[in-house]
Amino acid sequence: MTSKTLIAPSVLSADFSRLGDEVEAIDRAGADWIHLDVMDGHFVPNITFGPPIIKAIRNRTKKPFDCHLMIAPADPYLAAFADAGCDHIIVHAEAGPHLDRSLHAIQSLGKKAGVAINPSTPESAIEYVLDRLSVVLVMTVNPGFGGQSFIHAMVDKVRSVKAMIGDRPIKIEIDGGVAPDTAPLVVAAGADVLIAGNAIFKGGSEASYRANIEAIRTAADKARS
Ligand code: DX5
Ligand code: ZN
Repeated sequence: MTSKTLIAPSVLSADFSRLGDEVEAIDRAGADWIHLDVMDGHFVPNITFGPPIIKAIRNRTKKPFDCHLMIAPADPYLAAFADAGCDHIIVHAEAGPHLDRSLHAIQSLGKKAGVAINPSTPESAIEYVLDRLSVVLVMTVNPGFGGQSFIHAMVDKVRSVKAMIGDRPIKIEIDGGVAPDTAPLVVAAGADVLIAGNAIFKGGSEASYRANIEAIRTAADKARS
C-alpha cells in the first residue's frame, strides 16, 4: 500500500555544517517534502536562515521545498523566497494585517500558498482565505524551536480545519512535537502532512533517518486505515 501520509522533515534539526548532505540524506531516506523553517528573531524568538541558504541547497533534491516563514513582515521577502526555489510558501496568519494580500502575492509568483496558525489562533482566521490555499499548517507547539512537546488541545483544531476545508484540495500540515506516538492523533483528525525535526534527525545518520521516517509513517497510516 502506498502511504497517504506525506512526511516533511524539518531541517531545523539537521547538522547545519553539512546542510546540503543532510538534505540529500533525508531525500534518500524517504522524505516527501523538505520543510524549511525561516525565523527572524522578531516574529519568533530565534533566527535561522533565509533565501541564500535555501538557494544553495536547492540543487540537492528534486523534492518540494515547503517554506515556513516565521517572519514579520513577510510580504517584502516573498519574491526572494520564490526565486530561491521554494515551492510552497507559508506565511503566518498572525504575521501581518493583510493575509489575503500576502496569499495573493504568493500565488502571483507562481507558488503554492499556505497559512500557518499558532496554537492560540482559532481556525476562523483562515475561513475567508480558504480558496487561495494549498496548505494549512497547524502549529502544535509555539513556533521558534524544535524539540518542544506536542500540545494535545490542537487535535480538536485539526478536526475543525478539516471540516472547514470540505472537499477543497488543501493539505493539512502538522508542525511541532510530531513523533510516532502523536502522529496517529492528528492523522485520525484529518492531517495529510507530518512535519518533524527532532523525531527524524535523531541518530544522525541516513539509516536512522530512514527508520525514523518509517516509524512515523507506519504509525500514521495505521491511524488512517
Ligand atoms: C518550530 C518549527 C518546526 C520545528 C519542529 O517553530 O516550525 O518545524 O522544526 O520541530 P520538532 O519536530 O522537533 O518539534
Ligand atoms: Zn516549521
